[in-house]
Amino acid sequence: MATTRAKITSLGCYVPPNVITNGDLEKLVDTNHEWIVSRTGITERHVASPEMATSDLATSAAKIALENRGVNADDLDAIIVCTVTPDMMFPSTACLVQNNLGAGHAWGFDLIAACSGFIYGINTAANLVMSGQNKKVLVIGADTMTRILNYKDRATCVLFGDGAGAVLIEPAGEGEDLGFIDFMGEIDGAGGPFLNMPAGGSRRPASHETVDQNMHYVHQEGAQVFKYAVTKMQEYSRAILERNGFTGADLALLVPHQANMRIIQASADKLGLPASKVVLNIGKYGNTTAGTIPLATRDAITEGRLKKGDLVLFAAVGAGYTVGTSLWRWAF
Ligand SMILES: CC(C)(COP(=O)(O)OP(=O)(O)OC[C@H]1O[C@@H](n2cnc3c(N)ncnc32)[C@H](O)[C@@H]1OP(=O)(O)O)[C@@H](O)C(=O)NCCC(=O)NCCS
Repeated sequence: MATTRAKITSLGCYVPPNVITNGDLEKLVDTNHEWIVSRTGITERHVASPEMATSDLATSAAKIALENRGVNADDLDAIIVCTVTPDMMFPSTACLVQNNLGAGHAWGFDLIAACSGFIYGINTAANLVMSGQNKKVLVIGADTMTRILNYKDRATCVLFGDGAGAVLIEPAGEGEDLGFIDFMGEIDGAGGPFLNMPAGGSRRPASHETVDQNMHYVHQEGAQVFKYAVTKMQEYSRAILERNGFTGADLALLVPHQANMRIIQASADKLGLPASKVVLNIGKYGNTTAGTIPLATRDAITEGRLKKGDLVLFAAVGAGYTVGTSLWRWAF
């Protein structure tokens, strides 16, 4: 099979309509708007209504991406759903989305890499396309984090929101100098204890005890994660630029995972990037885990900050730990 270039040809995002503001959270836990904004940059976040699950957010985002490109779901070769909040342990959310879309000829799977999930997903999809195995791959980053938040724990419940974004990845045209350039990342399981959901898997199946001990909620040691994220975001962003003969000056845009405004600003400072080259939209959505990068990309496009031919770098650090950076020449 011939090697061909892969490009992102369409993008669609969905956030549920309900919004929780910092003021709303002040009524639930001992926190305040000033603390949340100054420590994280978050003002509000969208929250799925009780009947909505991750596959619903993912399906809505996918439909917009397909519609924007005028592609029929039946033409999809593969569906990759990046999520840590699947509707259930199995079947995969990808199967649920496939059925919702009526994608009659797709294979697919869920990908667990937490906040790096979307970057791992587009890397996998790009390679499926470049190998010639698939021609239309849908990658969806979708999470319903509010389902696994303890609204009695102020250190975590203020940070996350719900949302989804989908992209279509297809072969670039003959000789077209657009699309995927490179990926670099690492996983480091030694970071597992600092950010996880302890129960509900085969190690600690759901039981009265696990529920009583709040083990089905996000557990995070924020300061540890913060330090790792700042170090790795800039280390890998710098490395992938260097490996491809670029510097920060060549970048049109850095689209970082939106976990904390201070992580993003520290990483941008270390890379010498001005604020105009960095997307920061955490204020409106909080951390939507696998959803942040497509949502931030969508906002950048809407604001006219990302155009065809631009060099764009996606970068994330997430639970695991997982680290991912992905460099693209934007194609639409
Ligand atoms: C979670 C995070 C915002 C906390 O910020 P921080 O500046 O590190 O704050 P600390 O955890 O050191 O806590 C400082 C104080 O604020 C308090 N605090 C924590 N959450 C609070 C809240 N929502 N409102 C008010 N006070 C809060 C703490 O209890 C602590 O009080 P103490 O000093 O009396 O013990 C920050 O660590 C972070 O963003 N970490 C990375 C998170 C992340 O990226 N996660 C996803 C990775 S993909």
